[in-house]
Amino acid sequence: MSWLPRYRYNGVVPEIASRKHTEWILPVVKQALAEANLVIDDIDGIAATGRPGLMGALLVGLTFAKTLAWSTGKPFIAVNHMLGHLYAAHLSNDISYPYLGLLVSGGHSIICRVSAFDDIEVLGTTIDDAVGEAFDKVAKFYNFGYPGGAVIDRLARGGNPKAAHFPMPSLHKSDGEGINRHRYDVSYSGLKTAVINQIDQFWNPGFEKTPENIAASFQETAVRILLSRLLRAAEDTGLTTVVAGGGVASNSRLRELLAEQKGLDCVFPSLKLCTDNGAMIAGLGYQYLSRGETSPWTENASARVQGFRKNGRG
Ligand code: KG4
Ligand code: ZN
Repeated sequence: MSWLPRYRYNGVVPEIASRKHTEWILPVVKQALAEANLVIDDIDGIAATGRPGLMGALLVGLTFAKTLAWSTGKPFIAVNHMLGHLYAAHLSNDISYPYLGLLVSGGHSIICRVSAFDDIEVLGTTIDDAVGEAFDKVAKFYNFGYPGGAVIDRLARGGNPKAAHFPMPSLHKSDGEGINRHRYDVSYSGLKTAVINQIDQFWNPGFEKTPENIAASFQETAVRILLSRLLRAAEDTGLTTVVAGGGVASNSRLRELLAEQKGLDCVFPSLKLCTDNGAMIAGLGYQYLSRGETSPWTENASARVQGFRKNGRG
């Protein structure tokens, strides 16, 4: 029936996701080995994401990896999911440290100084929603389809970014010494509210309120928020290389705007390596293993990593 949404939930339901992980993890590992023409004896170590993420899904992956490593006598390495996203660009590019990292996904929006594959200093993060979350919520509200970010990106190509003029967040929270603690932070709840609840207020006369125009105007503001903080960080730190990662790094407008920045050298992973993938986790695991570092069997999953978000949601 055409009036039914193509997907039932238009998002990830944590409980269902973890059940599906349990169902699929073994067939997926078997298929990966078969496609790589390898058997388990050829593998030097087993890496899995330990944090941050959805607890149920993390537990399935981590427990599976530990069990496989233990039962085959191989080293086990727990990897930080966001460091994995940062490492994705290194899989096919030769990038030297230090640089600025732009980590943008469904759960995080992080601007950081990166000194090594395992050494990042978070300069800015979101004070409310993550950028990918905003894409997903706008797409869900307007029933654009799923996954939200990719659908909005596609729709926006046929729309006019000037159809609406949504406000940019202004975060000026100075402490007693006049230092702005939010200099590199971003915020998306205001934009989300503007697009979902107050769209008439920001709509420009003469433009039709089509899905394409809504998507293009929202997307333009969403990526310009990131860009403004990133340029600030580049200017203040003097770092001229930017490495992006995470699902939102596949956004075509973000890629286009960053490529236009003179004096900035921007490196993006291939589209396939922007969204969650095992290759980035394996690559990072390899780096730890090369240094002789492994993780203990007591390593546990965690939904959050301190400092990755400023709203108490980890
Ligand atoms: O990194 P990822 O695969 O999973 C998380 O770690 O969250 O990122 C998923 C996020 C979703 O919010 C999705 O809507 C967004 O990345 N995304 C995009 C695009 N493709 C995926 N956002 C904007 N433009 C895209 N082309
Ligand atoms: Zn991710």
